[in-house]
Amino acid sequence: MSKPTFYITTPIYYPSDNLHIGHAYCTVAADAMARFKRQTGYDVMFLTGTDEHGQKIEKKAADAGMSPKQYVDHIVDGVQRLWKLMNISHDDFIRTTEPRHEKAVQKIFQKLYDQGDIYKGEYEGWYCPPCESFWLDRQLKDGKCPDCGRPVQKAKEESYFFRLSKYAPRIIEHIKTHPDFIQPVSRANEMLQNFLLPGLEDLAVSRTSFSWGIPVPFDPKHVIYVWIDALTNYITGLGYDADGNSDPMFDKFWPADLHLIGKDIIRFHTIYWPIFLMSLDLPLPKKVFGHPWLLTAAGKSQEGIKMSKSRGNVIYADDLAKLFGVDAVRFFVIHEMPYENDGVISWELMVERYNSMLANILGNLVKRTISMSNKYFDGVVEDKGVTGPMDEDLKNTILQAVKTTSEKMDQLRVADALTAVFDIFRRSNKYIDETEPWVLAKDPAQADRLKTVMYNLTEALNIGASLLESFMPETAESILSELHAEKRALEDMDRWGLYKSGTKVTDAPATLFERKKEEEVMVEVEKIEAAQRAQYEAQQAKDAAASSEANAGDQAAETDAESDGMPEEILENGDCAPDTHIATPEAKPEITFEDFDKVELRIGKILHAEEVPKSKKLLKLSVQVGAETRTILSGIKKSYKPEDLVGKRVMIVANLAPRKIAGEESQGMIVAAEDDDGNIALMTPMAKMPSGCLIG
Ligand code: ME8
Ligand code: MG
Repeated sequence: MSKPTFYITTPIYYPSDNLHIGHAYCTVAADAMARFKRQTGYDVMFLTGTDEHGQKIEKKAADAGMSPKQYVDHIVDGVQRLWKLMNISHDDFIRTTEPRHEKAVQKIFQKLYDQGDIYKGEYEGWYCPPCESFWLDRQLKDGKCPDCGRPVQKAKEESYFFRLSKYAPRIIEHIKTHPDFIQPVSRANEMLQNFLLPGLEDLAVSRTSFSWGIPVPFDPKHVIYVWIDALTNYITGLGYDADGNSDPMFDKFWPADLHLIGKDIIRFHTIYWPIFLMSLDLPLPKKVFGHPWLLTAAGKSQEGIKMSKSRGNVIYADDLAKLFGVDAVRFFVIHEMPYENDGVISWELMVERYNSMLANILGNLVKRTISMSNKYFDGVVEDKGVTGPMDEDLKNTILQAVKTTSEKMDQLRVADALTAVFDIFRRSNKYIDETEPWVLAKDPAQADRLKTVMYNLTEALNIGASLLESFMPETAESILSELHAEKRALEDMDRWGLYKSGTKVTDAPATLFERKKEEEVMVEVEKIEAAQRAQYEAQQAKDAAASSEANAGDQAAETDAESDGMPEEILENGDCAPDTHIATPEAKPEITFEDFDKVELRIGKILHAEEVPKSKKLLKLSVQVGAETRTILSGIKKSYKPEDLVGKRVMIVANLAPRKIAGEESQGMIVAAEDDDGNIALMTPMAKMPSGCLIG
């Protein structure tokens, strides 16, 4: 009988910049799922890749003085090395610049055009350059881009359109009748309420405003826009051919069992993509799972903020791996990412988890177990069948953990699954405490009992390591090889006693995870962050030089890690407005240097921010200024959400007399700029200066 199949994909990432730990999370999670399915007996196809076309990459390449292809080749090389380093077990890697993809996409476009689902039209509306999106009047939010909140420009473009509207009833029906289709389920409602029920516009699927893309086959001044180019990778990667000559791989694996993606691109995967598939008369993917964000926290704070290069807080998997090892990174991203809410990571938390979970719970257990076998029985592990009262509980807990892991993986709750695996190691440590092998060893009459205890521990490790393989493959491998044990398939994990009695384990167990000192790690982290900031500043300087040269006042300086070509639903406000709208300042009388010198300006770091009840303008902030923490009320609510402020470094007037605002004492003032429209921007340092630092 042939094995059941399982086809899993990650997003194809933009090679506009090196990938960070957020991308790594998604790929590692997909890898764990793929490995687990293989272990469960499925014939798995795991596809990942890169989405290489578009205006942003075209521009980045030009800035770097390279051709777009040279530019992406370089980044993609790094992506592939990263996945190799991280032990990602993908079966294929698709690049949208490969001929196999480009040809297939052109055929798809042609087919949709021939059957009348794509037509030529003209777009008149508003254009948001960083999002590369056109919007209609009624779609704008306060006259600005509804996706990112930035200003838009009037624009007209000839474009090919896809008749999304024609398929709206079918996709609505599909979502309603397939509760499993969109995960977590709350997201399905969001799609219906926010996008489908209000009505679907036809979608512009070509562009003439840039040329780095796949040409429309019958009208080559147009390139095929991201939608049809990128989403189709999931079928072109299997060798789909719109002319009916698809590769057997396609018939074998399509429809996908799971598209694993981030919550930023759910709309594209649950509305546009299924509609394209309907139009191609192909079955829809069975499940789309939109995972939450991985945020970073400053220091030990639990409050996460989005990673961005400008903040110098982008964490890269390879940096983490250098300090902690690959499996520790895999453990960490999976363990810290909840199912529905965003996960928060920091270097400090990584040290903590590394020491408590990996060094103490897992590493120690393995070493102690193997060392005791060597000490008491020359490394030979034998089941003498002399059981004690705690043995049954050990066995049950472990078999239950196997079941839980499997259930949680089926529910895509990868973090919970990993926690269940660690229950095995936790329980085994407890078993050592309960059985006290060192006490048994003193009594020759207990030799067979001690042998049984060592056997049980080894068997627990054999099962635990086999189960760990999906998450931490190298560690699993090391443990199994030290035990001279076989890796078990899932179906053999719930059978206690398969470890071969009489096996001799290694006499030199390695230290799997050497404990780390936070101070020492942080010294390295400082270096990494300083290098990142220096690189960012150099880039800024280069951009500034380039933009003054080109006199491009309307240039969008897009440097944050999170902003890129695929229109995103969640983008923080950035500043891409043309600088043409500067209010004439109200002149104040001249002051002397001594006047100015009276003002004490310092860097403050926002620790906490909250709304002031009943106030339309005010936020209440806790600001760290050197050793003190101050409460400052500030009229910036219009432009900032409290959660976006945490961790930000701002400029404060530190020696302003305290005053009561809205019944609270405000101990200082935060400096901000305000334009004619009342938009407010806080003044922040270009580098991460310490709080309390003097400005002047
Ligand atoms: O959107 N936390 O590519 P992309 C968790 N090319 N996951 C994160 C993350 C974070 N902070 N940041 C990114 C694109 N991701 C398109 C996709 S698919 C046909 C085209 C992950 O490079 C997350 O999975 O911007 C997100 O969906 C993906 O990277 C976006 O990668
Ligand atoms: Mg993105």
